[in-house]
Amino acid sequence: MMHIEPTGQVLGATVSGLDLSRELAPEAFAALLRALGEYGVLRFPAQQLDAAALKAFSARFGSLQTGVSSFNEPGIPEVSILSNIVVDGKPIGIADAGQDWHTDMSYNRTVGFVNVLYAIEVPRRDGRALGSTSFANMQAAYRDLPEELKIRLKDATATHDFNKFWENMRTRPGSERPPLTPEQRAKRPPSVHPVFLTHPLTGRKVLYCNPGYAIRINEVSEAESDELLARLFAHQLQQKYQYTHQWTEGDVLMWDHIGTLHNAWPDYEPHEHRLIKRCQVLADRVFDPGFGLSPTR
Ligand code: SIN
Repeated sequence: MMHIEPTGQVLGATVSGLDLSRELAPEAFAALLRALGEYGVLRFPAQQLDAAALKAFSARFGSLQTGVSSFNEPGIPEVSILSNIVVDGKPIGIADAGQDWHTDMSYNRTVGFVNVLYAIEVPRRDGRALGSTSFANMQAAYRDLPEELKIRLKDATATHDFNKFWENMRTRPGSERPPLTPEQRAKRPPSVHPVFLTHPLTGRKVLYCNPGYAIRINEVSEAESDELLARLFAHQLQQKYQYTHQWTEGDVLMWDHIGTLHNAWPDYEPHEHRLIKRCQVLADRVFDPGFGLSPTR
């Protein structure tokens, strides 16, 4: 039987008693959605999934995005490979995915809903797991914003640009990323979203603006936008909003993008191997009234 155990921290819960390679009953799906809204990050330990099963589970939550890189599961472009492993001189995956604070797919017109990651190899040193992923709670960050900022930004929008994060990664020492081609940039043009969204699963407001992709608050001067973005980024990354997941092989980790930011820590060396498969799910269904929350749907 499914059991959901909250971490007791600002985010996170462990879901046991569910085999994700099998079809989800509507009641289980509804319970997962409620838990996602409440805890933001769900860990499903000791799973055994092939890429097709990872895709099938993820696709229950919405349409899947295909990446701009070619590091995908053969024949299944919706499953990306995140890894620092090199075989015969050739990398097998994206080595530096997500290595700074961001929210996946905020650069899309249809924003991201969840990521689903499956850990196959986890780097370890002296018995300690490396390559953890940290998350920050944007429902709590909104709740605690100074009233003056809540009023000032009530109807504000921000522009999110895929190229901002790409360039941040590309210009780091040792990066092998090339600049985005005009075709890649055309596939991911900037998008505009309200700075405050209402979370579709909880009805609570969230601060939807992240340092990885947000480049501009649109309704104010550039100088004011820079000042506001700096304030928002400093506020949302306070330690009190953060939770860190330490990976174990067999973990499936699913997290809500609308209510969280995340950051993958690159604290491991090239010979300390990390291999994770990932699906990115768009929020193209979760805003539909009643989406999955009623177990009869
Ligand atoms: C991501 O940002 O989707 C990657 C996170 C990770 O590798 O832990």
